[in-house]
Amino acid sequence: MRLFPPMNPPINHWQDQRVWIIGATRGIGAALARELASCGAQLQLSGRQCQPLDDWLDQQSPSQRQRIRISRLDIRDEMAIRRDAEALMEYWGSIDLVIVAAGIYDGQSAAHLDLDHLPLLADTLATNLMGPYRVAAALLPLLRQQGRGHLAFISSVAGYNGLPQALAYAPSKAALNNLCEGLYLELRPQRIAITRICPGFVATDMTASVGIRMPALMQPHEAARAIRKGLEHGDFEIHFPHHFTYGLKFLQWLPRRLYFRLLNWAISRG
Ligand SMILES: NC(=O)c1ccc[n+]([C@@H]2O[C@H](COP(=O)([O-])OP(=O)(O)OC[C@H]3O[C@@H](n4cnc5c(N)ncnc54)[C@H](OP(=O)(O)O)[C@@H]3O)[C@@H](O)[C@H]2O)c1
Repeated sequence: MRLFPPMNPPINHWQDQRVWIIGATRGIGAALARELASCGAQLQLSGRQCQPLDDWLDQQSPSQRQRIRISRLDIRDEMAIRRDAEALMEYWGSIDLVIVAAGIYDGQSAAHLDLDHLPLLADTLATNLMGPYRVAAALLPLLRQQGRGHLAFISSVAGYNGLPQALAYAPSKAALNNLCEGLYLELRPQRIAITRICPGFVATDMTASVGIRMPALMQPHEAARAIRKGLEHGDFEIHFPHHFTYGLKFLQWLPRRLYFRLLNWAISRG
């Protein structure tokens, strides 16, 4: 039973949904593509290296293949996003949901915050933060024209609190978390839904290189299921796994003196 009304229109029938996932070639985006494909959604799947998607699509039934399109796209390329968005609108006639999963991780530390490392910092911001801005800028005029629509951004719990050794990634996600709230406030009256997705640790290529202890680690298909359920529920923020993410949300409320001590203690335990 619901205590409050949903913050976004719940998605009830995936068969009626036309969904564009940007960053669908690997990891959480790829798992989400499989999850939504199995529910019958029509999909456009994008990323820079499409071979894994082509291989997967080759194994699907002919009827499934008809419902899925693949496009090579770099989220740092504003013109390409606009071109794809307009082409998709023309092909489908309407776009119901765009999910931005594209993201990169860079273990930026204060020890290396020098000019030699600025390209990595710039790339992280260009992908994780400017990517969503570019998608919103390209899609919003089209969604306004059709009188409705839904943008969902995969951000991270790393944006909840300041973190060491993540001086590019965590601020990019903190800014994205904030951006989603601003977009929601402005766009909800225009019937455009905004969803912020904050996973905990998920076992993907991204986390394979991080080299830290990862509590409550999930598999990509579990993350994809949690995202689908959150969209069906009409949540503004989809975060998971709850036993981990509610703990991190609690840390946001603590005085920084206490948070820093707790975090240092947790890191010292390994
Ligand atoms: N894994 C975790 O624990 C975790 C936790 C919280 C949040 N997240 C977030 O979840 C999202 C997906 O992460 P993941 O773990 O699935 O990582 P991943 O396995 O490394 O996959 C990243 C995806 O982003 C795409 N991508 C990267 N740069 C791109 C670009 N310039 N243009 C278009 N696509 C690009 C990649 O495709 P190509 O390389 O083919 O372009 C790939 O499909 C990211 O936003 C990440 O920050 C992950």
